[in-house]
Amino acid sequence: MRAIIATPDAGPGYRPDEVPDPVAGPSQVLIAVEHVSVNHGEVRYARAFPAGTMLGHDAVGRVLRAATTGTGPRVGAWVIALGAGAWAHRMAVDVGAVAEIPGGMDVAELAVLPTVGVTALRALRSTGPLRGRRVLVTGASGGVGRIAVQLASSQGAEVIAVVGSASRADGLASLGAKEVVVGIDAIAGEVDVVVETVGGVVLPAAWRLLSPGGVLHSIGWASGEPATFPVNSTFAPGAARSLRSFGDVASPGADLACLLGLVRDGALRVPVGWRGSWRHLDEAAAALLGRRVAGKVLLDVD
Ligand SMILES: NC(=O)c1ccc[n+]([C@@H]2O[C@H](COP(=O)([O-])OP(=O)(O)OC[C@H]3O[C@@H](n4cnc5c(N)ncnc54)[C@H](OP(=O)(O)O)[C@@H]3O)[C@@H](O)[C@H]2O)c1
Repeated sequence: MRAIIATPDAGPGYRPDEVPDPVAGPSQVLIAVEHVSVNHGEVRYARAFPAGTMLGHDAVGRVLRAATTGTGPRVGAWVIALGAGAWAHRMAVDVGAVAEIPGGMDVAELAVLPTVGVTALRALRSTGPLRGRRVLVTGASGGVGRIAVQLASSQGAEVIAVVGSASRADGLASLGAKEVVVGIDAIAGEVDVVVETVGGVVLPAAWRLLSPGGVLHSIGWASGEPATFPVNSTFAPGAARSLRSFGDVASPGADLACLLGLVRDGALRVPVGWRGSWRHLDEAAAALLGRRVAGKVLLDVD
């Protein structure tokens, strides 16, 4: 079958190649992949993977072989999956990392949800009730950002979306952002929660805005720049502020089903900003890393 594999010493760090079909374990389903998405880290850090690693994590496809344990979706079901080796004609993935897509949904666009959706959902859920709280989302024009804006605002938060330039603000107000600001320095007042995906100078600036008892979720570092915290900036009187790392997308099946439910019910819009064949991965990756995609890249596996 055809797959995109890591080539740490050549080209952009990946290339399409012919590889053996994956062999599904007893508690795995084998999926015929039809649509995938591209995550920031997958292309930015492709060279960090050992040569030959099958890349990609987010997929939509049909079940070719059900799990022999008798659990999980049946043969022929459309599923959404989060697991290793998604950029391929076939993918073997644990039943706990898939969710069956309810009938009547546009299956293709759902492929962009797994990584960014589970990430935003879990980070915000770990914060507690959001009603009435001020939630700052940095890198709001991107994949995690566009989901976080919607999830927080639909739970009653007052969402402030930060973007890098005026053109990157498009669509964020209609997704639920109360304020869309260019650059974090334009924000006045304290915030209770931060969903932070940019790093560099943005991280200490966001930390400075955090209220006593507030939580900053450090989810990513899209800037690729180091951060410097001013002396004494990590202690203050009053309730403790928290800076939390995020990286737990294990066993995402139930959360994938939750995200599908939100989309089906019209509570979450799927932020597809670029769509094309997986043969155009280079072009898609350049657009994503060049900050020209409003949301997510969706690739059709033809
Ligand atoms: N911890 C986890 O499990 C997890 C899960 C998903 C993602 N992540 C990480 O979270 C970060 C965001 O992911 P994403 O999917 O939202 O990425 P994305 O779609 O590429 O969005 C990133 C946003 O960051 C902003 N940005 C600022 N400086 C940038 C730069 N130098 N290059 C590129 N973007 C820059 C851009 O907004 P403007 O153009 O408006 O400035 C862009 O929209 C990445 O670092 C990713 O690896 C981590």
